[in-house]
Amino acid sequence: MKALVLAGGAGTRLRPITHTSAKQLVPVANKPVLFYGLEAIAEAGITDVGIVVGDTAPEIRRAVGDGSAFGLKVTYLPQAAPLGLAHAVLIAREYLGDDDFVMYLGDNFLIGGITDLVERFREERPAAQIMLTKVADPRAFGVAELDTEGRLIGLEEKPEHPKSDLVLVGVFLFTAAVHPIVADLTPSRRGELEISDAITGLVDAGCRVEATITEGFWKDTGNVTDMLEVNRLVLEGMEPELTGVVRDSELIGRVTVAPGAVVRNSRVVGPAIIGPGTVVEDSYLGPFTSVAENCQIIDSELEYSVVLRGAAIRGVRRIEASLIGHEVEVTPATRSPRAHRLVLGDHSKVQICAYS
Ligand code: TTP
Repeated sequence: MKALVLAGGAGTRLRPITHTSAKQLVPVANKPVLFYGLEAIAEAGITDVGIVVGDTAPEIRRAVGDGSAFGLKVTYLPQAAPLGLAHAVLIAREYLGDDDFVMYLGDNFLIGGITDLVERFREERPAAQIMLTKVADPRAFGVAELDTEGRLIGLEEKPEHPKSDLVLVGVFLFTAAVHPIVADLTPSRRGELEISDAITGLVDAGCRVEATITEGFWKDTGNVTDMLEVNRLVLEGMEPELTGVVRDSELIGRVTVAPGAVVRNSRVVGPAIIGPGTVVEDSYLGPFTSVAENCQIIDSELEYSVVLRGAAIRGVRRIEASLIGHEVEVTPATRSPRAHRLVLGDHSKVQICAYS
């Protein structure tokens, strides 16, 4: 059995972060979201992994390498343009051969791994096995239609009028039976080859498609709100590690201070993680906060946020529910008039507190 991991795509919903970097590498508790997926694949006993890459291929290659750090053998499969999840299967045809495979969306986060799912598939070998979960607003997802006995009738991609509140989770299992169906697909209204059409095609061809409903935690980390929520959840389950330097500070609850990090004259309420080489000084870090490596948090307050590599926040209070990009600087204006001075990249989003 092989794995096909999708790490191409445009990542429009995570702009501007994804203007300069791959959304699959946005860190959750200071580790790229893609790595959690690769670890889950290795844990399920799969070693051959094809990673579909697009424009951000160099960055993904740099981060994952040959996969040996995960116990995997990685082959990169370049996709010329993000033409859909089923298009990724199409271009992987030769790599996959006639093997069964698990397809894993590289920006999806699943708690509890995929081992049970893979084992069940290995025993029963339906043509496809999909996972569904309930969401409040299904319109942004692949939505399932089930009959009265819970059998899958079909799937619709991002429908305006969803037929249920059950949506596709980003992990799918297939036998080689999917390939002729994928080869016959035509682009959808969005101009993409849809995996939901491939699965519906299998159902229509009379193939067995198993759909299980999971209550487990799953999130597509494609947007900031979901990313912060996944970050919260992972931090909650983390064991703290104190290897950095902590001086004249109060650490409450599960706080990880990485080697080379310095916390001085500050209060940190866990769960929180502070990356290598980062300095936290005269500041308050609240729960569910991840600060990556080589950042500076000076004389500031920050809570329920993710800060990426090399960012500096000085003299600012208070920041909440925020995603701060690589090498970003947030500081107060030093001269009068007291005005907001902004240098923001395309697609940035800023909410300024009206009372400051
Ligand atoms: P999506 O979130 O469906 O698409 P996207 O990456 O274009 O994101 P956005 O909606 O923000 O513009 O993609 C799911 C995963 O699959 C993600 O990791 C990117 C990857 N992908 C590919 O590798 N190739 C593709 O053709 C598509 C559409 C996605």
